[in-house]
Amino acid sequence: MLRVCVIGMGPIGNTHAAVYQALPGVELVAVCDRRTERAQAGGAKYGVPCFENAQQMLDEMKPDLVSVATGGFEYSSDHYEPTLQALHAGCHVLCEKPICNDLEKAQEMVDTARRLNRCLAVDLNHRFTPAARAAKAWQDQGLIGELLFLNMNLWIGRFEQFETEFYHLKALNPHSVDILRYYGGEIEEVQCFAMKASGRSIYSTQSTNLRFACGAVGHLTSSYDIKRGHPMERIDVAGVNGRMVVEDMWREATLYPADSWIKQQYTNPVFGGFGQFYDTFADRIASFAREVAAGVRPEDIDGSGQAGLEASRVIHAAIESIRRGGQPVKVAEITK
Ligand SMILES: NC(=O)c1ccc[n+]([C@@H]2O[C@H](COP(=O)([O-])OP(=O)(O)OC[C@H]3O[C@@H](n4cnc5c(N)ncnc54)[C@H](O)[C@@H]3O)[C@@H](O)[C@H]2O)c1
Repeated sequence: MLRVCVIGMGPIGNTHAAVYQALPGVELVAVCDRRTERAQAGGAKYGVPCFENAQQMLDEMKPDLVSVATGGFEYSSDHYEPTLQALHAGCHVLCEKPICNDLEKAQEMVDTARRLNRCLAVDLNHRFTPAARAAKAWQDQGLIGELLFLNMNLWIGRFEQFETEFYHLKALNPHSVDILRYYGGEIEEVQCFAMKASGRSIYSTQSTNLRFACGAVGHLTSSYDIKRGHPMERIDVAGVNGRMVVEDMWREATLYPADSWIKQQYTNPVFGGFGQFYDTFADRIASFAREVAAGVRPEDIDGSGQAGLEASRVIHAAIESIRRGGQPVKVAEITK
């Protein structure tokens, strides 16, 4: 039985806690939030001890696995401290995305996990779906072949005030960049234009050109300016043998073979399929718990800390490109 704790009991920490409580082979043993009312509400809801101090919880409860669902500046500055505390306490850690708004700290999180031989994963939940896996299986079977282009779109409506002008790029796009890397591999160079839509102080819509290490080219468009509604996410992956499209994470994946008019399609089943976005968390968290229980090596974890770091590095390169007036930027240049 894996003993699990959750640090950060906002809406997302509550999602993690609910998933763990429903998972076989896992026992949610405590929750923590430095806000008293959130800690207490979590403890009462899940019937477990609650803490306001993460170190105290780690020392007393000795969990095997910890979810870090804190937020902070740019929705991620509070990931660093509890992740390091949990790793030093000997735990495996699933950290929310983005891994950290500060790349030097993100690198330290990855390096610490490696040094301590602990599994560090990031909640890159958008590709933890049967549709995304069906598409990956087509690619692995050679049905896409040599990659040509990957085009990704992701948009949600978020209209509140944000603390920095790059918030949208940093907080939303770990998902989209991870999906691009999932099908396309390493991204070597980016070139980004971005706009501040009417009345906005942040770069709320952006468009990034991509060059992949494999030679393929691609594109990522994302926006905080379009009111929520479906579809909200779509990727096109094209190769010499075929093209595939994944719509809305779990709804549908379609393969268009280059040599046939007959397409293949995965459709989310009405009974037993994904019903809502929550199910991406359930799939992702179950996958990490399964891997930890099975003793998967830290470097083989699906959606690892390293993957989260690389996704953020691509985003920071896109931000640097905006700063340079839309000049191309090599991702390898970006260390912070
Ligand atoms: N994977 C996804 O699809 C997805 C979706 C939305 C948000 N997120 C991520 O989830 C995270 C949490 O989001 P949220 O909306 O629940 O945030 P939130 O700010 O509402 O909640 C975070 C909580 O963490 C607590 N906290 C911060 N540092 C702490 C510490 N050291 N010890 C104990 N408690 C601490 C805060 O008091 C707060 O209650 C963010 O990083 C966000 O980027 C992921």
